[in-house]
Order: sequence, then structure tokens, then C-alpha cells
Amino acid sequence: MYSAVSRPEGGISDRASFRKIAGLWPSGVAVITAMDNAGTPFGLTMSSVTSLSLEPPLYLICVDLKSTTLPAIQDSGRFCINFLMRSQQEISNIFAGRSADKFSRVPTRRRPSGHIEISGSLAVITCTVRDMIAGGDHSIITGLATEMWGVDGEPLMHFRGAYREMGPPATAAIHAHQSAQ
Ligand SMILES: Cc1cc2nc3c(=O)[nH]c(=O)nc-3n(C[C@H](O)[C@H](O)[C@H](O)COP(=O)(O)O)c2cc1C
Repeated sequence: MYSAVSRPEGGISDRASFRKIAGLWPSGVAVITAMDNAGTPFGLTMSSVTSLSLEPPLYLICVDLKSTTLPAIQDSGRFCINFLMRSQQEISNIFAGRSADKFSRVPTRRRPSGHIEISGSLAVITCTVRDMIAGGDHSIITGLATEMWGVDGEPLMHFRGAYREMGPPATAAIHAHQSAQ
């Protein structure tokens, strides 16, 4: 069992436990791309992505203040969310690093709108920045979805610090259990 206690002034003092327990929340894996005003592409791997609102259609992402992609999002006022397929682990690893040549190793397409799509993604959502809110050592960014599309396929997932694949649907497991009784 993992546990962590709060300090008197509030907040968890043990970073390792915070990380371990946060990792018990499974997520998909996305790459967020953005292009600065000079036309240079930036991107990072991200799990903190969520749909926020249907009317208007908003997405929310959380970007580390140290990310080199953050200034490009700020400058351009645009970002693109690419949900990765389970076969795209290597792309996730590339964008989780700090190398300057991330885009030379990954097939991408530049949209006329200036967004950068990772080829072969499960889904792509282009956004214009709505709000940027301080969130501790991260910036919480909401974006108005301007275009979105997706294909059939299985997502890349992340759980307990490791990549995962989806299992069978839970209902199938329940039916299997019921018919075994
Ligand atoms: C599975 C996974 C999820 C991640 N989620 C986030 C996230 O939600 N927000 C974030 O800022 N960084 C996240 N990262 C870390 C960034 O990808 C990493 O710091 C990257 O080097 C930043 O690149 P940049 O500085 O070029 O933007 C995640 C990394 C991995 C492997």
C-alpha cells in the first residue's frame, strides 16, 4: 500500500508518494504540438488532457512551466492534441524527451491552419487558446476545439508509470463471469 500525509500548512510533503498515487489514475497518452511565430515546431507528451465543455467545445491541458512547448502555445495562441495509438510508444518516448530534433524522427503533417498533426494518431483536435490559468508548477490551458477527427483503433495508455494497452470491455468480463456461474 502507498500512503502520504499532509504537512500542517497543507499539501503532501512526500513527492515520491504523490507521484506513485497519482500514477494509480490511468490515462491515455497524447502529444501536444504547437508552432511558434517563427514557424518552429514544438511538442510534448502529455497525460493531463481532458474534454472540458461541450458548449462551447473546450479541451483542457496542463503544461509544466519548464516545458519548451509552452512559449510556442502562448505565442501562437494555438495547440494541437494528438491522441496516440497503442503502436505509437516510440513517438511518446521521443516527445517525452528534450531533444531539439523531435520532429525529424516522427511523421507529421502541417495543416493550412498552422497546426501540426502527428500522422497515424487515434484522434486529432486542433484548438485555439481560450484561457491560461496558474496551476502551481503547471499552466492550465483551455482551448476552443476548432477541428477534430478520429479513426478506429486502440489507444496508448499509461498506468503506474508504465505504458499499457486496453483490456477487453468490462461488460464482456461481467457476461463471461455470469455465464460461468
Ligand atoms: C506518459 C507521460 C505523461 C506526461 N504528462 C505530462 C503532462 O501532463 N504535462 C506536462 O507538462 N508534461 C508531461 N509529461 C512530461 C513531458 O512530456 C516532458 O517533460 C517533455 O520533455 C517536455 O518537452 P518540452 O520541454 O520540449 O515541451 C509526460 C511524460 C510522459 C512520458
